Amino acid sequence: MNSSWVEINSTGLRDNIAALRAAIRSTTEIMFVVKANAYGHGLVPMAETATQAGVRWLAVAHLHEALEIRGALPDVNILVMGVVDAEDVPVLTHERITPIVVSVEHGRTLADAARRANTTLEAHLKVDTGMGRLGAPWQDAPETYHQLRREKGLEIAGLCSHFATVEPNEPQRAEEQAERFLEVARALEAQRGQPLFKHLSSSRAILYHPEWDLDAIRPGICLYGYGTNDPRMRFRTRPFLQWKASVMQVKAVPAHFPVGYYGTYTTDAPTRMAVLSVGYADGYHRALSNRGHVLIRGRRCPVIGRVSMNWVTVDLGPTSEAGAGDEAVLIGQQGDASIWAGELAKICRTIPYEILVGIDGAAERRYLNGASTNPPSQK
Ligand SMILES: Cc1ncc(COP(=O)(O)O)c(C=O)c1O
Repeated sequence: MNSSWVEINSTGLRDNIAALRAAIRSTTEIMFVVKANAYGHGLVPMAETATQAGVRWLAVAHLHEALEIRGALPDVNILVMGVVDAEDVPVLTHERITPIVVSVEHGRTLADAARRANTTLEAHLKVDTGMGRLGAPWQDAPETYHQLRREKGLEIAGLCSHFATVEPNEPQRAEEQAERFLEVARALEAQRGQPLFKHLSSSRAILYHPEWDLDAIRPGICLYGYGTNDPRMRFRTRPFLQWKASVMQVKAVPAHFPVGYYGTYTTDAPTRMAVLSVGYADGYHRALSNRGHVLIRGRRCPVIGRVSMNWVTVDLGPTSEAGAGDEAVLIGQQGDASIWAGELAKICRTIPYEILVGIDGAAERRYLNGASTNPPSQK
């Protein structure tokens, strides 16, 4: 009972994939984004569950993540969305991993390395259509492609970009990016004389804009169950990761009892308090001090005092029968009560992504594969 752990109901992922699949054309590939340890859910288990559910493409940020997946899944297609080096080319081709190319220089370096290794590297050209991050500027993309097409050893088989903003009430910015992307695609396909494998949309675009599904979509957060609660969206998903800690000690305390560093909280009345085996070292944000809640015995219990490095104190209320060894839910559901990463994110002024990937990677992940215990709603 000395740290927190994560419980993942893999059936939740299968249900979410099924909801997405039912909303899209059968010809659109799902390229599931599993970078950052599958948003904290565990890279290989999520990759395995997704491929069992029919997903044929996975996307990661780094080559090492791709290699970890390849070790477990010999057949799935893998895209590395970060920038790979020339020295990575032999392993990329040997392991059939697809990198992105971000510029003429980058493509040439990879092509050189592929020629030296007597092989051809298949890659997707990343175009910056307005995200202002990785990729060839969209205005230069036809020329970039023209140069890269001459490079033996490199085959640009796909084309991708990423949205900066997808806001249903202000669609112009995303529309502008999509138009640029489609214009680039037309120009490149005219040069090539055959279609490229085109993918553009991540979760928000997928949820609001069916017209941009193209050959593949790159969902991340929506398949982890977040960000799908606007009724205008095409489908709904539910979170399936729960984060839990043990109650280490319970004690009765009097009124006016100061709690934690600097005594930032003082009890109003006699109550029972519990100390939990989690702290900011485990990813339980210090911003939750005096503001967050946890679930114990189906009740929402406020975090009192400062969150410290390894421990958190909560108010159980004067009549609670909770004791040492009880389970505290930091993210998840207990009885009818639930707390999801969105609630924590609001308090911490961040996004659910950061809460999920912030959960200590070393915390044990327990996978439950039984019948779906998906919670009925998300906050
Ligand atoms: C290039 C790219 N595509 C897709 C995604 C998935 O985004 P989301 O989790 O919002 O669906 C990300 C995530 O950051 C990304 O960087």
